[in-house]
Amino acid sequence: MCGIFAYTGSKNKDAVEVLLEGLSSLEYRGYDSAGIYTPESGVVKTPGAVGALRGKVPKSFTGKSGISHLRWATHGAPTEKNAHPHHGGKEDIWLVHNGIVENFRELKERLTKKGHTFFSESDTEVLAHLIEEYLRSEKNFEKAVFKALGEVRGTYGLAIQYAKEPEKLIAARMGSPIVLGVGNGEHFIASDASPILKHTKKVLFLNDGEVAVLTPTSHAVYKLSQKRVRRNPEELSWGAEEAQKGGYEHFMLKEIMEAPDVVSNTLRGRLIQKKGMAKLGGLESVAKKLSHIERIIIVGCGTAYYAGLIGEYMLEEFAGIPVEVELASEFRYRSPVLNQRTALIAVSQSGETIDTLEAVREGKRKGALTLGIVNTVGSTIARETDAGVYNHAGPEVGVASTKALVSQLTTLALFTLFFGRARKLSPKKGAEIARELAALPKKLETVLKKEKEMAKLAKKYAHMRDFLFIGRKYNYPVALEGALKLKEVSYVHAEGYGAGEMKHGPIAMIDQEFPTFALTPRDSVYEKNVSNVHELKARKGLVIALATEGDKSIAKLADDVVYVPKTLEMLQPILNLIPLQLFAYYVAIQKGLNPDRPRNLAKSVTVE
Ligand code: F6R
Repeated sequence: MCGIFAYTGSKNKDAVEVLLEGLSSLEYRGYDSAGIYTPESGVVKTPGAVGALRGKVPKSFTGKSGISHLRWATHGAPTEKNAHPHHGGKEDIWLVHNGIVENFRELKERLTKKGHTFFSESDTEVLAHLIEEYLRSEKNFEKAVFKALGEVRGTYGLAIQYAKEPEKLIAARMGSPIVLGVGNGEHFIASDASPILKHTKKVLFLNDGEVAVLTPTSHAVYKLSQKRVRRNPEELSWGAEEAQKGGYEHFMLKEIMEAPDVVSNTLRGRLIQKKGMAKLGGLESVAKKLSHIERIIIVGCGTAYYAGLIGEYMLEEFAGIPVEVELASEFRYRSPVLNQRTALIAVSQSGETIDTLEAVREGKRKGALTLGIVNTVGSTIARETDAGVYNHAGPEVGVASTKALVSQLTTLALFTLFFGRARKLSPKKGAEIARELAALPKKLETVLKKEKEMAKLAKKYAHMRDFLFIGRKYNYPVALEGALKLKEVSYVHAEGYGAGEMKHGPIAMIDQEFPTFALTPRDSVYEKNVSNVHELKARKGLVIALATEGDKSIAKLADDVVYVPKTLEMLQPILNLIPLQLFAYYVAIQKGLNPDRPRNLAKSVTVE
């Protein structure tokens, strides 16, 4: 996601060089524009890379302190105007921000009435104006920041500077990470430790609801209530690369572990829990056309296609719309029959997958309404579809898709509420789905505690050459995904099957050397799945069952059981995926492979 780096020093260090170098080490996060501010020289911003920013910064641009940012667009296109740092009306309050100010529209309206003029479409800019407004009454920088933050709803990681007190920086955190670097006569603020480590290993991680005031020689941490927090800095032993991975050994593991935050970010501001509805701003421009839709076609590739398959079950069951799911790579070569009453939904993390893009173009040619469920803002699919919803999962660095799938499924559940409540879904059922969606992050935290257990299981089974994954109904695509993940990162032959298909062929392969991962949650097809496990055991097959917490009977049958908390049947795949991702990751580790860089695979498939 976006990257923050800020510096204040009393030595003769050139803050501009420190900041530009720091931004370079944040580049791995993925971004689309960059900017830098120093009180001495002002601001330089540009769409594009840090290299472009460096080229644009004049030689005369200096400073002893400053703030800088890499932006990954959420509100407003990736333009120079929308890039950070942002300022208030007088151009003396400057700030960089990661996160989303949910109530920016109402704040903006209030401030506009008070005479503030806004320069960008970004939600961030409102914060600078709000601080400026409080500065007028409070006449104190820190107090103005505390007052302003008290009014913000949403998430933020912030670095703020006031031109009249150039040595001082204020940092704040609510839901978006902020690390302080404590140097000798210098202090740093960053969104992760990677740009700081070159300068100091002494760091202080802010907790949610904390604010820090830094000068070159001092740092003080407060709660939002302005109560002082006493906490000593810790010494990091990480290298820069480990810092980028948040201390995890691989991006894949880091991104699996992000699942609870991913669901929260995808849901943020979109769930109207009491009414059991979803507010999808990205679809508002096509609301009228959507009300005439009679059929949905979902297209995607690989993991994104599997997301579509799960979406099909959700949308047909709760929205009552006929849904077909197509591999984008096949759809474009058929002669699909489409019309204006068809919505074609393209699911893509990168927004650049060529087959998915061509399927969108084919849909457009044939008059369908094209919609995107895309993670990468400003990507080609996001631009070419008629409307869409961004996943807000943050950039996915690991080649194998993990957190993107979690966000795609969360978005499809939101689509289900959106379409469903306009059609057959009752307010009561809608509210139940919304409630369970909101409860997912906590349940995901419980599932992620299984990390060690999955590592142990991977160790036990890593020598196996083949694997079968089976599941039924909502968990059939989860089985396909479990097999894909294992193949991709550990090169173990794995097949995913609908459990009902097992007897139609694959069971012939089963013996003691061909284990099965059986998805057997306590849902509407539980008994049928248990029968399949019996059939496997009768052929001496080894079975790892993924079951609902408390299901003791399955433990008597299977060789190993992984327990997962219960949620609604339609949302169960979001929880069930995680152990399968961890299993694939740890089998790769057992085999001494780098799961972040599977052989022969690219993150974004832009060629056919
Ligand atoms: C699997 C994986 C791929 C992608 C597929 C589509 O782990 O990463 O199967 O899901 O290439 O990519 P996007 O979502 O970028 O269109």
